[in-house]
Amino acid sequence: MTLSSAPGKVYLLGEHAVVYGEPTVLCAIEQRARVGVQRRDDGKLRVNAEDLSLDGFTVEYDGTADEGPDIDVSESLLDAAMGYVDGAIEQVRDVTGNDEVGFDVTIESDIPLGAGLGSSAAVVVAAIDAATRELGVTLETDELAERAYRTEYQVQDGQASRADTFCSATGGAVRVEGDDCRSLEAPEVPIVIGFDGGAGDTGKLVAGVRDLREEYGFAADTIAAIGDVVRNGEAALADGDLEELGRLMNFNHGLLSALGVSSRSLDTMVWAARDAGAYGAKLIGAGGGGCIAALDPTPETETALSFTPGCEDAFRAELAETGVERLE
Ligand code: MEV
Repeated sequence: MTLSSAPGKVYLLGEHAVVYGEPTVLCAIEQRARVGVQRRDDGKLRVNAEDLSLDGFTVEYDGTADEGPDIDVSESLLDAAMGYVDGAIEQVRDVTGNDEVGFDVTIESDIPLGAGLGSSAAVVVAAIDAATRELGVTLETDELAERAYRTEYQVQDGQASRADTFCSATGGAVRVEGDDCRSLEAPEVPIVIGFDGGAGDTGKLVAGVRDLREEYGFAADTIAAIGDVVRNGEAALADGDLEELGRLMNFNHGLLSALGVSSRSLDTMVWAARDAGAYGAKLIGAGGGGCIAALDPTPETETALSFTPGCEDAFRAELAETGVERLE
């Protein structure tokens, strides 16, 4: 058995617009996916996944996803997760030149599925790393990030940025603009997460934004405006100006709402955080449901969120300095 882990992430600013070449800034967080891999000689892929949502479930997967009694995520979400694992193993076969190899794959994750915290990127990065090492190949971080990006690109029908996978592979804080991915001096950012217990379908949400952009010039302008917000946010981060960063997060949330990717529960959590005194708050990741991030160095926002109807979990996110970790 070869075991790797990779972190989830929080977008400080810039999701969705990054798909169209605008810049984005995001941080890896200490919520991780751990993927254990054992080679099989019969060419089959078997996946045993535990705790892919905060409530936890177990699934045996050998080509079709069967819902077990404790599964509380939709079958389509589960299928999507298994699609990422299939895609990751395809990359492993490609990079190692071993087309026939099969694997037993075990996934444990602290990161809820489809909730905006980068569960799929973390699973893909850890799976590619563990499975290549199981075959005696250790990839450089850049190659690992590239292979993980190709997996997301394929699974999301050609609509993915390099941001999630690069951040999960390298850890720390990163800036991504098109093909240009780089690490940033890790900022001291006090991030509180609110989770509504739900999830969004990244592929569908990204496609919805694409449709709006094609139909309305002002939707394209909204995407460009998110790029401007990010450029301003970079200056605020460099100055350590949390109040300004918070204001920009509020702006970013409004623009994402205009693009149709917020939801009632995400908006409710964002307003609860603002009312509690957070510098700013926004939905994170693809949206549709899942998580918000708020900036607050005090305990007020976390406490307020934990009493907010519709908020299932509230916690502080710690920056993950390291990306992929080779555990066994
Ligand atoms: C999803 O975590 C982030 C999006 O910007 C899609 C992507 O960057 O691939 C919505």
